[in-house]
Amino acid sequence: MTPNSSRFRVGVLGAGTVGAAFHALLEARADAIGAEMGLRPEISGVLTRSRGDFEDILERSDLIVELIGGTDPALEYALRTLRAKRHFVTANKQLLSRHGEELFAAAGEAGAQLRFEAAVAGVVPAIRVIAETLAGAHIERVHGIVNGTTNFILTAMERTGASYEEALREAQELGYAEADPTEDVTGRDAAAKMAILARLAFGAPVGLDDVPFEGIESVTAEDIAYARELGLSLKLIGSAERVDGGLSVQVYPAFLYSGHPLAAVNGSFNAVTIESPDITEITLSGPGAGGSQTASAVLGDVISAMIPPPFNSPPAKPMPLVTDRESAFYLHVEVADRPGVLAQVAEILGMQGVSLESLVQKGIGEDARLAMVMHPVLESRFRAAVGLIGRLDFVRSAPRVIRVISETFE
Ligand SMILES: NC(=O)c1ccc[n+]([C@@H]2O[C@H](COP(=O)([O-])OP(=O)(O)OC[C@H]3O[C@@H](n4cnc5c(N)ncnc54)[C@H](OP(=O)(O)O)[C@@H]3O)[C@@H](O)[C@H]2O)c1
Repeated sequence: MTPNSSRFRVGVLGAGTVGAAFHALLEARADAIGAEMGLRPEISGVLTRSRGDFEDILERSDLIVELIGGTDPALEYALRTLRAKRHFVTANKQLLSRHGEELFAAAGEAGAQLRFEAAVAGVVPAIRVIAETLAGAHIERVHGIVNGTTNFILTAMERTGASYEEALREAQELGYAEADPTEDVTGRDAAAKMAILARLAFGAPVGLDDVPFEGIESVTAEDIAYARELGLSLKLIGSAERVDGGLSVQVYPAFLYSGHPLAAVNGSFNAVTIESPDITEITLSGPGAGGSQTASAVLGDVISAMIPPPFNSPPAKPMPLVTDRESAFYLHVEVADRPGVLAQVAEILGMQGVSLESLVQKGIGEDARLAMVMHPVLESRFRAAVGLIGRLDFVRSAPRVIRVISETFE
């Protein structure tokens, strides 16, 4: 410890993957931080299910780091910390996406800092850039790949032609997916992160329950192979954007053309693209998870909280949530291979105002597979056309639909 540095006391809740890595990182870096800032961070106590007492740790801390996860008891600890006018740092997306407004209000009233960089996209500094660097910019859209597990699976399917099940198994063996992967593969984890990003980017109270999400469980190796022929690659996209005075926040698998900045983000990496007329666009990418990476983002938040003045998000203003959006779509359908089939499909699409951009057709014995990409159209019109196509007597399998993002930023 340097002679003149005073102490900044950090209480840590949780000692699992991230908690243990944070503890080790803080101890390794404490002297250097103390020498530079004149304030040395020190662990004042650790709470797990079997050791430590929260009240006692709070009493002895200037800041609490929460690395337990979930909302119970994390919410209670967060509120008790902020009400005691102590800073609160967390990596917990569930807590922020479900109880963000309550926490922002408590932090504002107490004049304490609430920081949560590691809750979205791991060490990728999306929160800091949106809330601080771009605090004066008018943000139009934030979209990205905010779940590393699904990106790993989709990349493996694309590179090796593996099925969804095979790629998931590989991800589990390598530690990129949990034994129960539901939160990740259904898109729910990404939805929580997009709710947090939308709240910050647009200042509107968006919670997890406001974000419709679709996952990747029904994506097939075939979809990916056909799309490759059309020059497309598949990503699980989280999107939050201003639409007609409202806000659209969604998570869905989407095909991207190779010029799109998110198309090159592979494996377990995350990336977030922020668009504003003031800056055109910024894309940030890097590891989305991992104990030491997440711990590094948490330590960055702790150091920021050591420096006044505090950053706190301004109060949220409600905005209407828009769900029926215009998009391009990929449609895959298996049909009987006989004359007139394509004409009938095209007629239904035309009746709903849907126009075809490209088509791949392949025979499989008596049947044929059609993989089509449509020009942008209102989702409700496209879904109506798909409903009608699905009822045609020559259709052999339920049609599969995936969005296509047609911008390329070139
Ligand atoms: N892992 C990552 O790569 C990653 C990335 C980004 C964000 N995060 C977020 O970081 C947080 C922690 O994740 P993790 O992977 O480190 O979790 P973890 O390995 O499961 O560790 C959780 C820790 O919390 C403790 N805990 C659980 N319930 C508790 C309770 N009721 N009271 C006190 N302590 C309790 C556990 O204590 P015991 O030891 O007694 O069980 C354990 O030490 C989560 O919010 C997660 O979403 C994780």
